[in-house]
Amino acid sequence: MRVLVTGAGGRLGRVVLPRLRAEGWDVRATSRRARTGSWVVADLATGEGVVEAVAGVDAVLHLASAPNRGRQTHRVDVLGTRRLVVAAGQSGVRHLVYVSIVGVDRVPIPYYRHKLAAEQVVAAGAVPWTVLRATQFPEFLDGMLRGASRLGPVIGDPAVLAQPVDPGEVADRLVRRLTAGPLHGIEEYGGPEVLRFDDAARAWTAARRSRRPLLPVRIPGGIGRALRSGGLVTEATPKGVRTWADHLADTYGGTGAR
Ligand SMILES: NC(=O)c1ccc[n+]([C@@H]2O[C@H](COP(=O)([O-])OP(=O)(O)OC[C@H]3O[C@@H](n4cnc5c(N)ncnc54)[C@H](OP(=O)(O)O)[C@@H]3O)[C@@H](O)[C@H]2O)c1
Repeated sequence: MRVLVTGAGGRLGRVVLPRLRAEGWDVRATSRRARTGSWVVADLATGEGVVEAVAGVDAVLHLASAPNRGRQTHRVDVLGTRRLVVAAGQSGVRHLVYVSIVGVDRVPIPYYRHKLAAEQVVAAGAVPWTVLRATQFPEFLDGMLRGASRLGPVIGDPAVLAQPVDPGEVADRLVRRLTAGPLHGIEEYGGPEVLRFDDAARAWTAARRSRRPLLPVRIPGGIGRALRSGGLVTEATPKGVRTWADHLADTYGGTGAR
């Protein structure tokens, strides 16, 4: 069985590829730049290489995305997904798995609107489908905390809830879903624990041996309300098992860079 993986060089793609191969899938991977081996060039924003990429594959695992890039996000995530779905339908692909984000239907941020629209494109297409919505990867939360502490203190809304999930565990779930066949529905997958932003931030500063204080700033409006009321978390089971503390130990160990 041959699978095409879009966005295969990204954070999730890098951990998905070895798992697919271990399960016996013949993998074709896409990137916008030429690479050797089982890679093909495809650009979802322009359509370059998309028809050729899906030719002869049994399944598509669609990971490519251009987060928070305004019109480019629309071009890649919505129009690009439509291009991919149409091309996959025309070449007889039997299953398309799309990875989305828990909360795209609840948290009114622009990137999420695009992801939700892309889910709808997938569901309306001719190819049998599965959507897996994952919560945030710990690396995303880590990057956000770095950004939030650029001015000194860690600035953030203490009551925002997050449920970080290890990308390797999301990759395992995706491979399982791909192998199980089309769900014609949406599955959610989250990490083992729901954390408040202030607790996550305190663990983060401790792991980095930093004394930065938390400067609480309430996120206003509907986005703030959605984030505080659990818009990014899910009760779905099964869940991942790797915790935020595991991520911090792996990343900062005993040395902890400030
Ligand atoms: N990060 C998270 O916390 C998180 C959580 C839940 C779900 N997700 C979802 O999981 C998926 C993968 O996330 P990730 O963190 O692995 O993303 P990532 O590291 O940003 O990788 C995304 C990939 O998309 C590809 N891409 C960008 N523009 C493209 C275009 N015009 N045409 C074709 N490919 C393009 C890029 O590949 P090239 O540069 O090689 O072309 C890039 O490697 C996304 O759909 C994201 O929404 C992410």
